[in-house]
Amino acid sequence: MSELDYGPLTPLIGQWRGDSGMDIAPEPDGPEHSPYYETLLFEAIGDLDNAARQDLVALRYHQVVRRKSNDEVFHNETGYWSWDAESHLIARTLTIPRMVALVAGCHIAAHATEWEVRAAWDDPDWGIVQAPFMRDNAKTLSFRHHLKIAGDTLIYDETTVVDIYGERFEHTDGNQLRRA
Ligand code: HEM
Repeated sequence: MSELDYGPLTPLIGQWRGDSGMDIAPEPDGPEHSPYYETLLFEAIGDLDNAARQDLVALRYHQVVRRKSNDEVFHNETGYWSWDAESHLIARTLTIPRMVALVAGCHIAAHATEWEVRAAWDDPDWGIVQAPFMRDNAKTLSFRHHLKIAGDTLIYDETTVVDIYGERFEHTDGNQLRRA
């Protein structure tokens, strides 16, 4: 680990595993429930500055999620957690292979061990970008991600609201992980 102060991101650094995940996803004939397990890697990538004024530190993360029923990867996500110590701003910048990306942020205390970031397609601050097919057929309207860390335990839950199959679907995921 570098000597930089990663603030509230510090305890995340490392490799995590969890096998009590539950995904509720949209399918044409109704919600699909899939128990899952995953690995989650956070790597400290150092500091950076923006426009010579904003100083950030960041972790790169990679989440690989497999269905318990067949051991196949059914979610693969990568991105960054960034922390601006001066303004107490934390943000998750994420991308998924189905051509959706977003930046979700919030303000938290410097020693917070729990937080929730949000983004929405029409939010001027914390937005969502998606390819035309997704916008027209499976539009991500909003995203929230709640994370809590306690020692060697990490718990998250998230809701992705998707406009799909003629309805507004709450696509949810959550898992409890242990430091590997
Ligand atoms: C642990 C996390 C996640 C898992 C396990 C997961 C899994 C799934 C599954 C199984 C489906 C339905 C079947 C399919 O079409 O592949 C689906 C659909 C979808 N997911 Fe996720 N997802 C996760 C997180 C996310 C996130 C973070 C986003 C976006 C911010 C997202 C956006 C979507 C969208 C837009 C769809 C509808 C696309 C479609 O069915 O064609 N998902 N997801």
